[in-house]
Order: sequence, then C-alpha cells, then structure tokens
Amino acid sequence: MTIHQIRKAYLNFFEKQGHHIIPSSSLLPENDPTTLFTGSGMQPMVPFLLGEKHPDGVRISDSQKCFRSQDIEEVGDNRHTTFFEMLGNWSLGDYFKQEQIPWIFEFLTEEIGLDAKNLYITVFRGNKELGIERDTESVQLWKDVFASKGIEAKDIDFAERDGMQDGRIFYYDESKNWWSRSGVPKNMPVGEPGGPDSEMFWDFGAELGLHETSLFKDEPCHVNCDCGRFLEIGNSVFMEYRKTESGFEALPNKNVDFGGGLERMAAAVNGDPDIFRISVFTKALQALQDQSGSTYGENEQETKGFRVVLDHIRAATFLIGDGIVPSNKDQGYFVRRLIRRAIRFGKRLGVEKGFTARIAEAFIEEYVESYPSLQEKKHIIVDELSREEDRFMKTLEKGEKEFEKIRLEGVVSGKDAFILYSTYGFPLELTTEMVEEAGEQIDLETFKKEFEEHRAMSRAGSEQKFTGGLADHSDATVKLHTATHMLHQALRTVLGDHVFQKGSNITPERLRFDFSHSDKMTDEEKHRVEEIVNEQIHKDLPVHYEVLDLNEAKKRGAVGVFDDKYAQLGGKIKVYFIGEQVTGEYFSTEVCGGPHVERTGSMGIFRIKKEESVAAGVRRIKAVLE
Ligand code: ALA
Repeated sequence: MTIHQIRKAYLNFFEKQGHHIIPSSSLLPENDPTTLFTGSGMQPMVPFLLGEKHPDGVRISDSQKCFRSQDIEEVGDNRHTTFFEMLGNWSLGDYFKQEQIPWIFEFLTEEIGLDAKNLYITVFRGNKELGIERDTESVQLWKDVFASKGIEAKDIDFAERDGMQDGRIFYYDESKNWWSRSGVPKNMPVGEPGGPDSEMFWDFGAELGLHETSLFKDEPCHVNCDCGRFLEIGNSVFMEYRKTESGFEALPNKNVDFGGGLERMAAAVNGDPDIFRISVFTKALQALQDQSGSTYGENEQETKGFRVVLDHIRAATFLIGDGIVPSNKDQGYFVRRLIRRAIRFGKRLGVEKGFTARIAEAFIEEYVESYPSLQEKKHIIVDELSREEDRFMKTLEKGEKEFEKIRLEGVVSGKDAFILYSTYGFPLELTTEMVEEAGEQIDLETFKKEFEEHRAMSRAGSEQKFTGGLADHSDATVKLHTATHMLHQALRTVLGDHVFQKGSNITPERLRFDFSHSDKMTDEEKHRVEEIVNEQIHKDLPVHYEVLDLNEAKKRGAVGVFDDKYAQLGGKIKVYFIGEQVTGEYFSTEVCGGPHVERTGSMGIFRIKKEESVAAGVRRIKAVLE
C-alpha cells in the first residue's frame, strides 16, 4: 500500500466510526506563538483538548503535515525524517480506551493488513509517587484484541532490563509512556493536561540482525531499544489527568489523542525498515539517481547523502508550499538550512546544477492528488529552490576560489578556514574535506579560537536579541555566566530539583546567584557544589546552544524561565547545553540568552565566597573564578 492508500483507508475507517474528517493545517502554526512549526497532529487541536468546543463535534480525524526542525541533524539513518504526516483521531470528552484500542487494532490488522504477530504494545507502568496506577485497563483491552487473532498476549515488566521474555505487552515508566505538551509529569505546569499512553510497535524481525550490529548489542533488545528492529507506528494518549499543586486530578472530560506515523506504517506494510524505500520516495529517488549517477543503497556514505537530499527537499517543498521562503531568520532560516544542507550532500553524490528543482518536481507529482495546492504553488517552489541554489553555489564558488589561492601559497591553516567561513560564508566542513582530500589536517583549535574571538567582538545585530541581561560581554563576565549555569546544576544535584534560579547578577569580578531553597547550606554541601563545578570545568566540556521550540526545550529537560523575555523570533528560545554533544548527555541544559564560553577548560577554579538568605525560601550565593 502507498501512503496515499493508507491515509485514505485511515480517514475512511474513522469516518465510519463517526469522526468528522478535517484537512491538514498549515506547517506554519496559526495563532500559536509558542512554536515555529506544526510538529504534531495534536498541536492545532490543543484549544479543543483544553475544553474549547470544536465546531465539527467531539470525534475528529485527520492527517496532519508535520515538520520537526530539531531532527535536521538526525536525518541520515533509516527512519528519521524532518517532514512527515501524522494520522490523528481525537475524542474530545467522548469515547475512551474501550473504543480506541479495538479500533486502532482493527485498522492496523484489517484495513492495512499488518500481521498481529509482528505488533507489540507498550503501556504505562504506574507510579505510586504520582498517584497514578498501572494501566491495567489498556492491558486487558489489548489482550482481548490479540486473543481474537489467536495470540496470547503476555504482559511483561522491565523488558528494558530483562529483555522480551516472549512478551507482547510491555510496561514502561513515564519517560516512555506518558504524554503531555511539556513532556514527563515533573515538567508539567499546574493546570496542564496529560496522561498515560499506549504505543504500538512494528517488529521488522530479529532475523535482520539489526540489534547485533547496533551500538546496543551488549544490552537486551526490547521494543524501545534504538537498534531499529522495532519501529513505533502509533501512540494512543489517554488524556485523563490535570496537574495540580500536589499531584494530579482527573479531568472532567477524558480525551483521546492518537498520533500515527503515516510513512512508518507504510514501511511496516512494506516489511522494510528503511523508510526511504516506501513508494512516496520512489520518483524523487529515481530523479536523484538520474541527476547524480549514483545508486541508492550501494554504500553507506552515499546512502546517507540520498536520505538527506530526499528528506530535506521534500520538507522544503512543503514548507515553501505553505508560504515559508528561504531567509536568514525565523522559519525561513530553516528552509535555507534544509536547502543548503541538501546541496552539500547532493554535490558529494555528483549532482548537476538545478537538481533541487528536479527533486521537488518529482515530489509534487507524487503528492499532487493528496495536496493539489502543491501544483498551484509549483512555480513558486521551483523558483525559490533554484534561486537559493544559485545563491549558495555562488558562495561555494567564491569560497573554492579563495581556497585555491590560499593553497597556492602553502598550507591551509585554521585561521584561513576561519576567514573562508566568516568572509565568504564557506562552510567549515567543506574546507576540512578539501584539506583532508589533499592528505592534510586542518587546525581546528585555531579555527575555534578565531571563531570565539570574532563572536566576542561582533556580538551585535541578531545576537544582541538574545542577550539575557548580562552587564557586559567581557571575557571575565562571560566565564562567570557559564559558571552560573554550572552552579545552578550543581545546586540541583546536591540540594534537589526544587532549586530554581530566582535571580542572577554578574560583574567581571563575581557572580551572584539567588535560588529557591529554605535552609542554610552546610559547609559540606557548599564544598560538594564547588567540587562538582570544578570537576566539570576541568573536563573542558564544550558549550553550545540550539534555538528550539518551547515544547522541544521542555522535552529536552531545559531548566530556566520560559517567559516573554526569551520568546523571541516567534516563540523560539535559546537553550545552552554544557557537555558532550556526542553522547547526548549534557551536564547542564538551560534556557538562556547567552553569551557563554565555547569550552569550560579555561574558566579557572570556582569558589563560593558567601552563602546567605535574601528572603523567605530564597538563598544567595556569591562566587568567583580564580
Ligand atoms: N500527541 C501524541 C504524539 O505526538 C499522539 O505522539
């Protein structure tokens, strides 16, 4: 089945169950300043899930276009895409688990013919502290539907520790089986609705050997393992709770929010874990093979390139179709980034000029019946892509010429790479590649140093918009600012998660940090905090920031003030990460305007000079870097 057939079957099926079918909203959210793009099916439904009356009734269904900018760098494996369609069905205070589970099972097994033997389920384990019980009701409903297919569905706890044990239904905690706009229960503000969810996974089969060849091979495989054997294809959220001051209370109206990955379902139907092998990519993939002379799937490096080009140009096609053109700011910045990244990967595959438009045309042809407006916008899409390609090609040409000039004079240094980058807009990775092709190495440390100096000097313009209240941007102040984040995290580690920033003031001489905590800190606690900060400084951790949607920032555990001060550029916020980017584990993740040091190594030694009370429940620390 193609995605178009699956989409149609889905909407027909839920229409039969009394749902009103609504068209996809734009990728550009309407009347929602908290986010740059529509990233899930439920996003445009939020007012109705919160109790506003939907003009089309209490049963709604759709297929929503989604774009997740935070996944741009993830694209390249067999399943990540930045653009996708999410199938949705909603009960707005109407039906609940008893209807949703049998329906979605029937849809998956009967309408699109997925073999129930390859379907696996997860449910919420329950959490005493939250006062929320294990979701045994869903378990029983799932057992019944599997039994109707002659399958005995065993429920298993702790598969993440003990493996699958012939189970069919698995319990996980709130990090996996809980859904709210702000993520896990502890991140939800008072009043926010959320609830346990139940996810459906497709098993591509152990015989593909995906687990044994993955990074996770030494741990037991289970449905939430990231080896790629299991693919989440759907998620039924049972929105039945609301956060209160002391815990949770039942919502007066229980909602269902189902989200299903359309392309992922097609991959399951296809029996191939490579999502880029589903038919919606076939025309574009063929066009890219023709343009480049390369063949998809022949070698790993090129395969990644194909995926990046296909994903990014499809996303750009839909984004431009929704009126977002490449630019240097807001949503347009992401369209520019997608196109330029696609060009870089495309060039490596050997494409000719004009290839982005050719790929886009292939996608428009593929989608025209489901999204006729793409045809109407075709000339705009093609035009924008071609112009952006021209602009970037010119940048590249100029950069390459300069590179050759430098080469003639000798070795390309880190400083040269920086000049190419800052003056000609020539990407560092291209310089690195060209240098490496000649069997040489580039001095990245010098590049970084130049980059840092340049940044410190030219913090103006758009950077200035992000300033979060630093008196000046001198080296000493910036170091103390980074130290403030590290202190914040260390305090949370030592004293507990109730610690939040209440105020901060930094001069070149010292930092002053006010935080929520009632008791005077003991000498031991102060010592431990200093020790943690100094250990992390000593590790020379990299510091970087990402500009994220509000929800994404919360999901990624960012602490800090989510208020108007940071709601620049239509709801994006800047989040600083201190720690290793490779492992995805950061020492500190905090909403902040910056600036910060590039690495912690040169900060010096952190010392707490004073710890005192400033108000009831608020303590103040003064500290220095020596
Ligand atoms: N809102 C739920 C999700 O995005 C269905 O996973």
